[in-house]
Formats: sequence, structure tokens, C-alpha cells
Amino acid sequence: MDLFDKLKGRPSPLGPFTSEGYGYYTYPRLEGPLGPEMKFNDNDVVVWSINDYLGVGSNEEIKKTDTAATEEFTLSAPMGARLMTGNSTEHEALEQELAEFVHKPDALLLNYGYQGIMSAIHALVDRNDFLIYDELSHACIVDGKQLAMADKSVFKHNDIESFKKQLFRAAGKMKENSSILVVTEGVFGMTGDLGILEEIIALKEEVPFRLLVDDAHGIGTLGEDGSGTGTQLGCQDGIDIYFGTFAKAFALIGAFIASEPPVIEFLKANARSQVFAKSLPYPMVVSARKRLQMIKEHPEWREQLWSNTLKLREGLKEIGYNVLPSESPVTPVLTQGSTKLCQDIMRKLREEHGVFVSGVAYPVVPKGTVLIRLIPTAAHTDAHIDKTLKAFSAIKDFVETAEAKISA
Ligand SMILES: Cc1ncc(COP(=O)(O)O)c(C=O)c1O
Repeated sequence: MDLFDKLKGRPSPLGPFTSEGYGYYTYPRLEGPLGPEMKFNDNDVVVWSINDYLGVGSNEEIKKTDTAATEEFTLSAPMGARLMTGNSTEHEALEQELAEFVHKPDALLLNYGYQGIMSAIHALVDRNDFLIYDELSHACIVDGKQLAMADKSVFKHNDIESFKKQLFRAAGKMKENSSILVVTEGVFGMTGDLGILEEIIALKEEVPFRLLVDDAHGIGTLGEDGSGTGTQLGCQDGIDIYFGTFAKAFALIGAFIASEPPVIEFLKANARSQVFAKSLPYPMVVSARKRLQMIKEHPEWREQLWSNTLKLREGLKEIGYNVLPSESPVTPVLTQGSTKLCQDIMRKLREEHGVFVSGVAYPVVPKGTVLIRLIPTAAHTDAHIDKTLKAFSAIKDFVETAEAKISA
């Protein structure tokens, strides 16, 4: 059979959203300058779907740095992988600043977080090792696991008993040259709950292992200095390998891993997606340094983010929505319903109220449930929040009727 013909029959993970909803539910075109107000299909919308948590992406000083760095260095340079010709003092300076920011001795810059963490997991463990990860881990961890040669096992999301079971199972099968790598997240991006880092770390006393934490949503948003979930929970020292991306609070492309110097040195030679790929262009690196500096200098951005988060969340609860108990700015609203309801909520909010939210239905969440996820940022204003709460209030009867139908 021709491969292309075969592809036509393959099920899509996006289900009914794929073809009917292209450009609307999937691959929507959000245009205009980045910020809480953008254009969707030529209409003005208040956007609750982008992870520019601190409003960095619309900051004028940062925009100037981006322009100046592009003029000075161009988007082309440096050329080649870092290992060969793509390294620079800017790249190295950024690594040192990132390491210091997250309270680790050393760091390695990654072109994309997804590829970087995937390769790191692949590189860190061999066939004698054990890899244990949370079942709700991001796709990059799951794909890293697919590449890894280790014995793999998964524990139920944030369930310490389930984790213990896998840890002790691994401990029972260890050979002299076996090691254990545990991978979880600081903040789980769909539901906003934090990884049970302290409980996991406490178990190192019973069975030694190393812990890698993907803190994509925690960096910049959590911890009194913005250094992430470990700092927020008071257990940053127990994280052996810290991963952060620029894709959220830094509103940029790129990421990093921070750890002890020998681990970083090892990854510099062995993280294949970095060794064999062109390095980040200068403007990205220069701008990442500027963004980091400004995030450090402006703790009030984080305060604003949290104040907006709480206003939005309390408002939604007052209207009667079921807001899941998130410990991060991620604000998940759960209702009963079908994929159709999920689409209807998004469509009504966008078309009738100028409010852009994203939602997910089965198979991302259990059958019969719909999760609408709102991402507040420091750049949202009270007016944006009021407008959004009015919109959610206006569609409440519609959502309730659909919920009633599903539970009948
Ligand atoms: C939890 C998590 N890990 C990793 C990534 C991948 O990072 P990047 O966008 O830098 O590839 C994302 C998405 O950005 C994420 O949400």
C-alpha cells in the first residue's frame, strides 16, 4: 500500500478537531502584536491562551533589545552547532546567568526545550538503568523515555504510593552498575498542580536516585525570586537536574538544563539534538539575557501575575464554575460535556464575546469532561478580567444545560 494513502486512514490524536476545525480550533491564527489583546479572524479578542506569563513579550525595552541585537548580529550568526562553530561568549554568559538564577552550579543552553530534554533523558540513562516518570508528563519526557535504553516505569500522577512502588521495584532489580533517574514536572501545564517534589526527594534517603524536574511553567512564575517550583517548595537542592524553557515566562525560543558541572559537561558531548543542530542565533541569546535580567529586576511582574490570577479565579468561582485547585497561574475550568460542548464554549466566547480561550476534550481529558484552560498574565488588566467574567457569566446557562444533558 502506498504510504501516503495509508496516512489518510490513520486516526489523528486531535480527533474531530483536525479537519473540521483547522484554522479555528486547531492552528487558529492569532495575529497582531503579542499581548492580551490580539486579532482572531479579523476580530479583536482578549487572549487567555498564551504563556507569556510576565508580559515580557510586549515589553518595549525588550523589543528594543531584540531589534538592536538583530541589527548588530543578524539572525544568521553564529553558524553551526555549538560544538563546532556555533559557540560564543554570549551563549556562555547566558548559561552562567541561568545557572545562578536557578541556584545550580552550571547550565547548558538548549535550542528547543522539547528536543533538549528528550535528548538529555536519552543520554543520561543506559540499558542498566531505571527511568521512573509521572504518568502526566509532557510529551517531551514521554518521547525522551521512548529513546532511552533504560528499564522504564510510570507512576500514577502525583501519587507517592505509586511512585514508591516503582522505586522499590527498581531498587530490587538493581545491578552494581545500575542507577535510577526520576523525572517529573514542577507545574503540570494542563491542570496547574505542582509536582510532589518534596515527597519524592524525601525518598532518596531510602533508595538513592537522581531527580530531573521539567519546570517549564514554574520558571519565572514561582518562587520568591522567580527561580521556579523547587524554590517555591523549598526543595531546589533536591532537584539534581533542573530544566527550564524560554517558551513561557521568557516569551522566547530556547531552554536550558542546570546541574553539576560534570553532568553539564557530559550533556555537552552527548545530548544529540544539541550536538548535531545549529545553535541559537545571537539575537535570541542576547534577548534571553535581557529578559532574565528584567525578570530578576521586576518582581512586581510576578505579583501582578498572581493578583490577576486570583481575581480571575475568584470571579469564575463566584459565577459558579468549577475551577480546579491549581497552585500555579494555569487556571483550569472543568465542566461535564462532549467535544461539541468544548467547541461551542470556545466558539461562543470568541464570536459573541471577543474572548479567546482554548479547551480540550476526550482523549486529552476523560470522556464526558471538558477542560477550558485560561492563562492569566501580568499584562492582563482589570478590564480584560471583567470582560471575560461577563462573557463566562453570559454563557453559564448554555454550559449548564449541556452539562445537565450529559449527566442525564
Ligand atoms: C512542560 C513542558 N515541557 C517542555 C516543553 C517544551 O519546551 P519548548 O517549547 O522550549 O520546546 C513545554 C512546552 O513548551 C512544556 O509545556
